[in-house]
Amino acid sequence: MHDAPSRPYGSRELIYVARGGHGRELPLARLQPLGWNLRRVSDARGALRLLQRDARQPHAALLDLREGFDHHDLAEFGGALSAANAGWVAGVDASQLDQEPVRQLIRDYCYDYVTLPCPEAVLDTVVGHAHGMARLACERGEDEGGADFDGMIGQSAAMRALFRTLRKAALTDAPVFIAGETGTGKELAAMAVHRHSRRSAHPFVAINCGAIPHSLVQSELFGYERGAFTGALQRKLGRIETANGGTLFLDEIGDLPLESQASLLRFLQQGCIERLGGHEQVRIDVRIISATHHDLDSAIADGRFRADLYHRLCVLRLQQPPLRERGGDIDRLAEHALRRYSQEGQRTLKGFSPCARQAMHGHPWPGNVRELINRVRQAVVMAEGRLITAGDLHIDHADSTPPPTLDEVRDAATRDAIVRALQRNRGRLVDAARELAVSRVTLYRLMLRHDLRVGEMEDGFSAA
Ligand SMILES: Nc1ncnc2c1ncn2[C@@H]1O[C@H](COP(=O)(O)OP(=O)(O)O)[C@@H](O)[C@H]1O
Ligand SMILES: [Mg+2]
Repeated sequence: MHDAPSRPYGSRELIYVARGGHGRELPLARLQPLGWNLRRVSDARGALRLLQRDARQPHAALLDLREGFDHHDLAEFGGALSAANAGWVAGVDASQLDQEPVRQLIRDYCYDYVTLPCPEAVLDTVVGHAHGMARLACERGEDEGGADFDGMIGQSAAMRALFRTLRKAALTDAPVFIAGETGTGKELAAMAVHRHSRRSAHPFVAINCGAIPHSLVQSELFGYERGAFTGALQRKLGRIETANGGTLFLDEIGDLPLESQASLLRFLQQGCIERLGGHEQVRIDVRIISATHHDLDSAIADGRFRADLYHRLCVLRLQQPPLRERGGDIDRLAEHALRRYSQEGQRTLKGFSPCARQAMHGHPWPGNVRELINRVRQAVVMAEGRLITAGDLHIDHADSTPPPTLDEVRDAATRDAIVRALQRNRGRLVDAARELAVSRVTLYRLMLRHDLRVGEMEDGFSAA
């Protein structure tokens, strides 16, 4: 947790955004002895980078609009201006308050503005308050359970449970196996475990077993000696050896050819490798994390994956929840992607329209977080309004039918019960009605209402 609340006037971050070169920059260096950590940038990108370095660190940010910012620059500022950890103050010439884009920017994004030049004390107060507001926003994030973990966004119960498991896994050196659909963040989780483990100062080496041609897997994993095969002009270390001391992430382990499964198993049992074409046993100390989107149980049953290797790899098992089970995280991830890519669009986007939010919650997200990020990124470029719509996200309305109402659920259950009763009673209305504890007339009426055609039913069933 950041320590700002207990040291309100300890060190406070101040970003000064000014194009510069006009000799009118504000002499803010005088603020440093007052505990301000001053950072100067010349554009939106620079500001956003600073703000994203630690999303929980509050910042006051002063946007000096007097020199050289045109409409395009202002549009670019959207992402930085909507960062939750910044309190923005605009510095303007009095005449600029007549310009609609400037007025709109201040209205939509800024905590306050000052007409420059202004007395130092005024500027200090306004910037101090802007920082205070940013701090409140950051604290709110934490009170609401800012559960995000090491760059992974997630506050849903499913993600909180995952983060707890990741933290525990980081405390041990046991092999971790991460299961989950594609795009759910398996690699991100693997990196988080590494970064929180005692190996964090050593390498994290990832290898995608599914992306390497079968013939090259062995040499990629184990390396080779000079002359091991034609073209082996010099010794090359394999990924396992490069990861020595750190963590080896075996991604898409389900795609590892059987031959390499045997070599990998030998390495896991002995702790040594032999480079191809070599005779020397090299002792290696790595922590293994593996992942796959395949169902390894069926791969084992089919003989495509070795059960003994699986048991070695899967000491701790993590399950990445699919995006459709993460509730409000869908909105948070979408907003995160919007902030991240907002500079790529032509205009300042304010967020998502209600129809876009509804569509996102109805979409099944087969590609999970990766798909969400890609759709938002594309929408940022394509959007023509101030809000991203379902159309901009290219989410079909067929995919995003709203959840059923209570009446619809009740109707479906009633219809289902009637059909089953009729089936059990071979279409005999009197018996079905008795079973359902309604009169024959009521049953008849219900069948009409639910589009169950009596004649056909009776015929159909009596013939059965
Ligand atoms: N919880 C999350 N918060 C933020 N970004 C995420 C999260 N989960 C996944 N991502 C992003 O989604 C993309 C896919 O994640 P990745 O770890 O490669 O998935 P997988 O390995 O399961 O296919 C990456 O760009 C990653 O940064
Ligand atoms: Mg992956």
